[in-house]
Amino acid sequence: MEPVLELRQLRKNRSGVEGGPLFANVSADIAEPAMIAILGVSGQGKSTLLRMLAGLEQVDEGEIRLHNVSQRGTDPRAWRMKMCYVAQQSVMLQGSIEQNLRTVSLLHRIPYDEKLVRRLLPRLGLDHLDVSKSADQLSGGEKQRVSLLRSLLLHPAVLLLDEITASLDRGSKELVEQVLREWHHQQGTTMLWVTHDLEQAKQMSGSVWFMGEGTLLENSKTANFFDQPLTEPARNYIKAPEHKEPPCPS
Ligand SMILES: Nc1ncnc2c1ncn2[C@@H]1O[C@H](COP(=O)(O)OP(=O)(O)OP(=O)(O)O)[C@@H](O)[C@H]1O
Ligand SMILES: [Mg+2]
Repeated sequence: MEPVLELRQLRKNRSGVEGGPLFANVSADIAEPAMIAILGVSGQGKSTLLRMLAGLEQVDEGEIRLHNVSQRGTDPRAWRMKMCYVAQQSVMLQGSIEQNLRTVSLLHRIPYDEKLVRRLLPRLGLDHLDVSKSADQLSGGEKQRVSLLRSLLLHPAVLLLDEITASLDRGSKELVEQVLREWHHQQGTTMLWVTHDLEQAKQMSGSVWFMGEGTLLENSKTANFFDQPLTEPARNYIKAPEHKEPPCPS
């Protein structure tokens, strides 16, 4: 079986700031479809890494390969169809909710799967929505789920999920988790999921990538990571994931 994703020595420099890179030497292999939680304190570059994978940020050094094909030299639009980034703060285009959903099909020249939309809207807790209504009237949490649905319509090989349930109530969060769990099993989609919700990471992922000290500090099976984190920053993070800065030494 061909590998899903290979990250080779990725480096991201800080823009306009002296000193070391944001991160460097980030290497990892995903041999088969997987659910991976990406954890780490704020500012480690988790979002930046996801955006790099999606081709939305420049790769300063290193290489990203998807199904044995390098990102370098691949048409960005074709790449983004296979590797979809879902942002924490979703941006809706002008127009109705339905137009927003149809846009991806138009852009990527694939048929609009209305049946799938009708099936998934209630599963995502959005059955109350009138899709002919303007998208900018949606709440933040509704926008997030519409934007997730917009990405699912592409059937990407890899979904890059950036804190997509951070502003959802518990019920809606569990709906999203259930839909994504089923999607992973049925479609074989690999998901890289940035979250600060450790319960979610435990329940949803098979492996954890922990970012700290300017690199990918740990890459472990989820149970091992939570039972026996190998490094001090990971131990501190598990104790207090809400920390926005590394804890001060006492
Ligand atoms: N394009 C960029 N080039 C260089 N540095 C950037 C870029 N975008 C963001 N940064 C900086 O990199 C750091 C990491 O940002 P990033 O948003 O990736 O962190 P994060 O780990 O996702 O944090 P959080 O958990 O708060 O979402 C921040 O200091 C940010 O200002
Ligand atoms: Mg982030």
